[in-house]
Amino acid sequence: MKMNPWTLSVLLLLAGPLGADPGWHVEYPDSFCVVEGSTATIPCSFTHPAGQRVERVVWCPYSLICHLTVFNVYDSSKVWADSRFLYMGDRVKNCTLKIIKTVKRDSATYHFRFETNGGGYTGWKGVRVTVTDGEVVKVRSSVTDNVVKEGGQVTLTCTSACSFHQLDFHWYRNGHALSETGPALHLSCLTNDDAGDYTCSLDSSGQKTSAPWSLVVVEDEDRFDWHLTVSVVLKVLLAVFLLLLAGLVFAKRSAPGPEHETVYSEVVR
Ligand SMILES: *[C@@H]1O[C@H](CO)[C@@H](O)[C@H](O)[C@H]1NC(C)=O
Repeated sequence: MKMNPWTLSVLLLLAGPLGADPGWHVEYPDSFCVVEGSTATIPCSFTHPAGQRVERVVWCPYSLICHLTVFNVYDSSKVWADSRFLYMGDRVKNCTLKIIKTVKRDSATYHFRFETNGGGYTGWKGVRVTVTDGEVVKVRSSVTDNVVKEGGQVTLTCTSACSFHQLDFHWYRNGHALSETGPALHLSCLTNDDAGDYTCSLDSSGQKTSAPWSLVVVEDEDRFDWHLTVSVVLKVLLAVFLLLLAGLVFAKRSAPGPEHETVYSEVVR
């Protein structure tokens, strides 16, 4: 979100002690997210009141106006030996700050201040820097295990360690884009076709993409057991039936000839 420089100036007038001239502004993103250990290049630009000369530039965390010099991470009036905070800007319009090999404790809201021969001016809003120890974007699932039974369901959620302005979610299975947009992906009536590597991304360029979450769909064991039971019962019934049939045939053969009985009964009748 870009703030109207005019609005920003008014806000700065309220916060800054010496910001008497509205002909200046400082602009940086609201928030900036970086993975621990990597380098953060925080874009920043400023304009200073016309006719004045910038004599000092400062970056500081915590303080709204950077008046507590002990906390400054960069101060052009000091010599910085071996600092992880590098000023990439100039004294005209660029105030880009680079933080190399970020560590968790670098997470803070940083402000930029410049001082001219006419006064001191601080970008009141600041830029919230978040250093995360894991991935910036992550897929979380509703199941503890990534093995799900056929016919089952799972909900995947795309989470981010930082709050981005445009939360535009994109889902992929094995690298192919899915139609779903939104932070949650609900998969139900799972079949083997649903198995694969799921990733989510917070922008369509594919940057800020999560690590894959693998879904394995297995045959439902309960259903398999039921099938097995039915087939065993059928086989047993068939065996019993065959045994009975065999017994019957055997009994018939070893019994006295039926002809005599027939003859006898006819005689009696
Ligand atoms: C400011 O300086 C940085 C680092 O030198 C550079 O990458 C960036 O493009 C500059 N920005 C502008 C607006 O000139």
